[in-house]
Amino acid sequence: MARVAIVTGGTRGIGHAISVALKNAGYRVAANYAGNDEAAQKFQAETGIPVYKWDVGDFEGCEKGLAEVTAALGPIDVVVNNAGITRDAMLHKMTKEQWDQVIRTDLDCCFNMSRPVIDSMRARKFGRIVNISSINGRKGQMGQSNYSAAKAGMHGFTKALAYEGARKGITVNTVAPGYINTEMVAAVPKEVLDTQIIPQIPVARLGEAEEIARAVVFLASDDAGFITGACLDVNGGHYIAL
Ligand code: CAA
Repeated sequence: MARVAIVTGGTRGIGHAISVALKNAGYRVAANYAGNDEAAQKFQAETGIPVYKWDVGDFEGCEKGLAEVTAALGPIDVVVNNAGITRDAMLHKMTKEQWDQVIRTDLDCCFNMSRPVIDSMRARKFGRIVNISSINGRKGQMGQSNYSAAKAGMHGFTKALAYEGARKGITVNTVAPGYINTEMVAAVPKEVLDTQIIPQIPVARLGEAEEIARAVVFLASDDAGFITGACLDVNGGHYIAL
């Protein structure tokens, strides 16, 4: 029986590529999204992957949504916490709302999406949780104290849960993308992107969503069973950490 994977923010950007790559690798995939119905319907029509709408910042919404996916596809084997938002501003201009929105979506999602499935993964002695962090949770980024904090928090969550899951066949890892050719990066002021960011990328280009998706498919696979608590940097050499 094919394994079941849920990808949050799975209908657009990096999540779109992850959903499709997992499907092509033989998983039964469900793609979660929060708001853009039009994009989600288009995605479903094009890929045949069912879409489910809920807010990953809302614990009860996650419980309900994950129960629906389980009823439709079966117990969840793979959770990809990909959904994320930015609300960039220097701290001296950042509002409390911008802080709260990012922490709620980008960090609370780890608990909200993992807690409802962890008992079943432990009972079945198999699970893969892949958290999509960011280069900016690794190195920090001006204008992103909220986002860098949330994404760095994901690494702490990953490492702690990796210990807990290790003897139960559950691996927990992060993938930390660099600057990828998506709408999120397109929202960075062009002047900043061209003069401050791209020149710092050794491979001299933005990454492609499919390059992140391939890393996720690997971490979800049986081949990656001995990898847990790890962070896979996929950033074109933009931040090289050992
Ligand atoms: N790297 C280096 N320098 C940067 C920078 C960056 N990423 N972002 C801004 N700066 C510099 C600007 O060039 C500017 O320099 P000067 O004062 O020398 O002109 C200075 O910081 C202040 O910037 P702004 O004039 O734009 O100030 P602002 O208050 O209007 O906006 C900002 C500040 C919100 C940080 C805005 O510049 C911005 O959005 N920058 C991009 C931040 C960024 O990299 N976000 C990543 C989004 S993509 C993502 O998050 C996905 C992922 O995981 C990688």
